[in-house]
Amino acid sequence: MMPAVETNKLAKSYKKVEALKPLDLAIEPGEIFGLVGPDGAGKTTAIKLLASLLRPTSGRAGVFGFDTASQPEAVRSQIGYMSQSFALYPELTVRENLDFFADIYRVKPGDKKTRLQELMDFSRLGPFRDRLAGKLSGGMKQKLAVSCALIHTPRLLLLDEPTTGIDPISRRELWKLLYDIWKGGVTIVVATPYMDEAERCGRVALMDGGRMLLCDTPEHLKSGLGLEVIEADHEEPTRIQELIAAWNGVDGIHRFGRLLHLHLGDPSVQRPKLEAALRGTGARLRRIEPSLEDVFLAMTGR
Ligand SMILES: Nc1ncnc2c1ncn2[C@@H]1O[C@H](COP(=O)(O)OP(=O)(O)OP(=O)(O)O)[C@@H](O)[C@H]1O
Ligand SMILES: [Mg+2]
Repeated sequence: MMPAVETNKLAKSYKKVEALKPLDLAIEPGEIFGLVGPDGAGKTTAIKLLASLLRPTSGRAGVFGFDTASQPEAVRSQIGYMSQSFALYPELTVRENLDFFADIYRVKPGDKKTRLQELMDFSRLGPFRDRLAGKLSGGMKQKLAVSCALIHTPRLLLLDEPTTGIDPISRRELWKLLYDIWKGGVTIVVATPYMDEAERCGRVALMDGGRMLLCDTPEHLKSGLGLEVIEADHEEPTRIQELIAAWNGVDGIHRFGRLLHLHLGDPSVQRPKLEAALRGTGARLRRIEPSLEDVFLAMTGR
């Protein structure tokens, strides 16, 4: 079967900045694939290259067998793309926005009415069809933007941070929508800075500074490093953090609210010493499964 996405040493530079370092990636049809990493990781660059909106500096990318550099029109016929700073028209209504995108993507006039209705039902925006896009909540705007990207029934949906800046409930709803789209047979590539969203993907590429660090299922990523994580809970996490930092006996200390995650490379040696170092402080220690965030932090040292 033809891969949905295939890249060979795909790279993009801007003068001295290597926005995307040579990337080899294959994504099969039917995957929901996450490009995950912090600001400047290269997520947008990768997505724009796949959408044939950027030309690679070197290497190549294919989408369902079409080359993004030499066959951009064919690539665009296969994809729906939602940019990070997507442009809805705030002075147009929900329906008018969809209508506008239907025309841009040359949806046949005979199919348009049905498709618009399908998308409004699907995204549950039907009741808001006559509301100006500018007056929608953040989550609804995002749903409308995803719907616009789906207007011509693409095989591959490329979404650049679709949930950034929206509240947790809207995020969950948007993910429900993405799963519905995915169950309908659309391959999805989604960029996100949120590690908890990475857990919702079938496979994930962890990215940092233009480089793909690891690529696997969330489960394999979490078990693959052999990372042991001890969670320390205390009313004064800063004090405990300082104490452990001064003691210098763990491989990483990462703060999550009032909880500390302590990374141990050699737990049989480090754990008893850690317990001794914290004796009398009242800190509660327990071993936890590493999160993807732990994996990322362990890989980057940040
Ligand atoms: N047009 C450009 N000119 C120069 N440098 C650029 C350009 N676009 C991106 N970069 C640089 O390339 C790197 C990767 O940027 P990119 O936008 O792909 O990251 P990102 O993972 O999408 O980050 P964010 O989470 O901020 O959206 C960054 O260092 C960025 O400053
Ligand atoms: Mg980006």
